[in-house]
Amino acid sequence: MDKFVLYKSALKGAVTVSGSKNAALPLLAATLLTDEECIIHHVPDLADIRTMLKIIEVLGKEVKFEDGTVTIKAGKKQGYVAPYRLVRTMRASFCCLGPLLAKKKKAKVSLPGGCIIGVRPVDLHIKGLEELGAKIAIEKGYCIGDGKNLKGKHIYLGGAFGSSVLATANVMMAATLAEGETTIEYAACEPEIESLAVFLKRMGADIAGEGTPMLRVRGVKKLGGCSFENIADRIEAGTYIACALATNSTLQINGANPYHLTSVLETAKKMGAQINIIGADSMLIEPKSVLKPVNIVTLPYPGFPTDLQAQFMVALCYARGISLITEKIYPDRFMHVAELNRMGAHIQRSGPYAIVEGGGALYGAEVMASDLRASAALVIAGLSAEEKTQVFRVYHIDRGYEKIEEKLRSLGAKIKREKQ
Ligand code: EPZ
Repeated sequence: MDKFVLYKSALKGAVTVSGSKNAALPLLAATLLTDEECIIHHVPDLADIRTMLKIIEVLGKEVKFEDGTVTIKAGKKQGYVAPYRLVRTMRASFCCLGPLLAKKKKAKVSLPGGCIIGVRPVDLHIKGLEELGAKIAIEKGYCIGDGKNLKGKHIYLGGAFGSSVLATANVMMAATLAEGETTIEYAACEPEIESLAVFLKRMGADIAGEGTPMLRVRGVKKLGGCSFENIADRIEAGTYIACALATNSTLQINGANPYHLTSVLETAKKMGAQINIIGADSMLIEPKSVLKPVNIVTLPYPGFPTDLQAQFMVALCYARGISLITEKIYPDRFMHVAELNRMGAHIQRSGPYAIVEGGGALYGAEVMASDLRASAALVIAGLSAEEKTQVFRVYHIDRGYEKIEEKLRSLGAKIKREKQ
């Protein structure tokens, strides 16, 4: 296993974000809806992407992944089983269920299980697919489904925590080949879902309302292949915004859509940073010397993303005052708090709340990465803390941040990957 060794660094310059992991994963699942060739550009080379490609191969596709472009076409063997050994390492593969039910009329997909940030239920996925007429049984940790007679209908997909990104993806994909019209009320509005809808329409699907809480899908007989450019990773971009704030560095972030980050940029402005939008895919983040405390509540898009909560918590450790973070999506997503407190932070967690007493310094320590975004937060902490920090188990980072040490080193970061 690898570790990162980091020292306090003054950063400057420009960084280009990669294609979005969370947008690409459902696109890869959507290729199961056709036997024709699909080509997807701007796909990041990440562990999670490679896992999904392995699952797509097991499900009967021929896959090529070169220089950020994925080419997928029908393979010789046909499959409908997404095995536990792969699904458990990458829960997003559960969104193969909808396409398999719609295209192959049957599916056996391992339940993803929980993870460190929370229980991660899939009840909304199953509810939505059953409302479309799928017969779903849970046996020995697998979801076994029959999708012979999928029929469109009005489906309410809201859950206890609001909308669900991948449940919306699963149901929308299944509805594209169902008979008749489906309306999905309380659909997720994330840019990744909007992008998936555009991809599906390019395949020939009849969809309207993408990006809004009311999606309308009219079933078609068949979907074809297509070529598509994956959107940029707004969470990677937001991670660099948090890094600029925590290290008091002026950074230019290229290749990301600033309009996918409004809530994050508003928060950075409230903390005292100057934000300049440069065209459609570039922004300049200039922190003022003293950061101000803010209250952050994580919400479904367009609210503040839960995937940036840990990273902004590090920046708030340097704000002059007390901030309150309310985690409304994953109330247990605070694994990073204990590690940050070991670095000298003063954060109190109580249920879904974290109170950050800012204004002090952080000091280097040996810390343990626990999940993708908490690991990114620890890297930001290591670049802003006095003395040496070592972040262990960086395989968590490799799941979601392409070439992170190269990109950070290009900004002047003192970061090195070593064998643990
Ligand atoms: C997506 O996960 C993202 N993953 C997550 O990013 C992100 O944190 C999450 O959306 C929220 O924005 C991918 O896109 C691959 P949800 P998803 O269903 O779709 C509850 C990262 O770091 N819920 O929108 O699985 C759930 O427990 C990852 O890149 C149910 O109750 O998340 C949560 O509280 C981490 N029943 C809330 O809804 C369900 O059937 C939102 O979850 C499904 C979800």
